Amino acid sequence: MDRFFYIANWKMNVTIKESEDFFKDFLSLYISSPNKEVVFCPSFTTLPSAIKSYSDIDKISFGAQNVSNIDSGAYTGEISANMLSDLQVQYCIVGHSERRQNYNESNKLINQKLKILINNNIVPILCVGESLGERDLNQSDKVISSQLSECLCDIEKTNIIVAYEPVWAIGSGKSASVEDISNMNNLIRNCMNKLGYINDQFYILYGGSVGIDNLLSIKEASLLDGFLIGGASLQASTFWKIIDK
Ligand code: PGA
Repeated sequence: MDRFFYIANWKMNVTIKESEDFFKDFLSLYISSPNKEVVFCPSFTTLPSAIKSYSDIDKISFGAQNVSNIDSGAYTGEISANMLSDLQVQYCIVGHSERRQNYNESNKLINQKLKILINNNIVPILCVGESLGERDLNQSDKVISSQLSECLCDIEKTNIIVAYEPVWAIGSGKSASVEDISNMNNLIRNCMNKLGYINDQFYILYGGSVGIDNLLSIKEASLLDGFLIGGASLQASTFWKIIDK
């Protein structure tokens, strides 16, 4: 794999004004080494101005954090993939554990979202991950395999990013070990191959409490194509230190 992604998941943080301050600081640092591939996933309200101002910078692109599973129509409050592509959004996170847990998103719903994204030429960032209880019962492999096979059922084989995000590692300050990440990356690769993906069609990221202190050890994990970063992407200088390491 020749690409290595740093994807910032800003979650329900960062207003338009705050994003302008962020980018002012971030770009003054980024300019020193502009060859890192960075994808920002801000809120829907911040996306338009951020895309307008910064998407022509080489290797910086933008993603959404959610999309409707329906194409269009009377679905108050929803945002369609067509609307995202209208904004020139290139990526979209789906299956994040916060949406699975807080909004009861099932693998079936995630599958519908993936199909709609692919139809609109938006690259999905599909999150998979086991809970602490599942990990304690040694069910991590089973959970990840079934999340992948159910979410990717009958999906056209185009480029996709899979982010392994153990639920217990998100926002907890406790990341998975490099051995666990390597093992899971191998399992993800095997599952993807079984589902009909060739190796050049997917990238595997790790997410869950990635920060300056654990970055270098996690980077040693096999088959790793990048990071999905929440908390540590909110401050320009911290996020830059991670990217620049
Ligand atoms: P975190 O979040 O880096 O704050 O753990 C990662 C994510 O939820 O994508």
